[in-house]
Amino acid sequence: MKKSFNTEEQKTTGHSQWSNRGVFLLVAIGSAVGLGNIWKFPYIVGENGGGAFVLVYLLCIVLVGVPVLIAEIALGKSAQSNPVSAFSNLAVACKANRFWALFGYVGIISGFLILSFYSVVAGWSLEYLRVFIQNDLLGSDARAVEQYFTQLLASPNTLLLWHSVFMLLTVAIAARGVRKGIEKIITWSMPILFVILVILVLYATQLEGFSKAFDYLFVVDFSKLTTDGVLIALGHSFFTLSLGMGAMMVYGSYLQKDTPVVKLSFMIAIADTLVALMAGLAIFPLIFTYGLQSASGPSLLFISLPNALLNLPFGQFFGIAFFFLLLIAALSSAISILEPVLSFVQQKTRLSRRFTAYLIGSIVWLIGISALLAFNNWSDVHLLGERNIFDSLDYVTTNILLPLGGFGISIFAVWVVSKQSSTRKLLGISDSKYPIWRISAGIIAPIVIGVIAWNGLS
Ligand code: PFF
Repeated sequence: MKKSFNTEEQKTTGHSQWSNRGVFLLVAIGSAVGLGNIWKFPYIVGENGGGAFVLVYLLCIVLVGVPVLIAEIALGKSAQSNPVSAFSNLAVACKANRFWALFGYVGIISGFLILSFYSVVAGWSLEYLRVFIQNDLLGSDARAVEQYFTQLLASPNTLLLWHSVFMLLTVAIAARGVRKGIEKIITWSMPILFVILVILVLYATQLEGFSKAFDYLFVVDFSKLTTDGVLIALGHSFFTLSLGMGAMMVYGSYLQKDTPVVKLSFMIAIADTLVALMAGLAIFPLIFTYGLQSASGPSLLFISLPNALLNLPFGQFFGIAFFFLLLIAALSSAISILEPVLSFVQQKTRLSRRFTAYLIGSIVWLIGISALLAFNNWSDVHLLGERNIFDSLDYVTTNILLPLGGFGISIFAVWVVSKQSSTRKLLGISDSKYPIWRISAGIIAPIVIGVIAWNGLS
């Protein structure tokens, strides 16, 4: 029974398939929309000075994100296999060097590392969901709310509990299969996410701080932007669109071969960007209405936001809605971070999907423990410069590995795969769109990645 989960999906190709394109669109948006949009985007906007950062981020999405997204989905769809085999099979088909598969391995490593710290933050949202359901913060003043978060970070057991619950949820869904697990859960959870977000934004429009928040996000002041800010914007455009590690590639591999990918890629990028901006428009009005700190960093959502909510009518209700939203967003992304690793290991070892999912989940869970200890027992352990384990994992993956993976993916798609007319056809990019995509993915995106990475890292 367990082994037969995928037989129906695999009947035609030997590889799983989504039920239809609409489903693909939802799961890909589910992957893109996550903690990156709701937790990270607002706080990095806050740390990097508002409007100018938002503008650079939008430019990165258009100039780099979308062309790479098209390349990634197109490669997966052409190869119909996990990212490592996709690179090596296509390289063989194009008579190119098989070292290209290294980029697939970079993705697999990124997957392990990202999911381990992602799950820790998703665990915070589970704790806050519990806190709002039980109304634990009722009557607390600003100091007490701040202390609550500080205490949570200082308590490895609580962090471990929620990290474990979140990993278990992710693995349990992924283990059930592409259709019966991922597709089933995400097709109902994504619409709920959108409805909650719209309600939260409408609510925020009624607050005094709304217009200030609007200006904060959209009035551009370049004097506030730093070189580091530009690197962060680039890294975030990869993170938020789930690029550079094979997540979109493996989701693309479950598409039918004749699916055109350009329009779908634009729709994913637009939906993802809208959600990030809407999250900003839901959160900053609350922050400004209560005169709280917009540049408070990762704690923006866990200190400033609860503080504001406690002062508002129906605060408990909106708190529950907000952290539930965060949970659904995190879960649908976490599943997609696991998928390239899962499909790779499963194909290599021929173990069952269920067993493989729990095996990988356990390794990620272990790495995650080191990430959560960075906030307490291991706070003195520094890996990269002054960064603790958690920050190092975030920095290495978001600012180095994902852009590196994206660089390889776009060069490979344009300069290797699309050179041969037989493999070019497989990519499914129509003749009218092909020249623009070739220039943007083959020239502009690699140059932008190279220049920003050089400046940011040197
Ligand atoms: N895009 C997700 C977010 O914004 O939270 C994170 C993510 C998912 C990163 C999948 C990378 C990935 F492959």
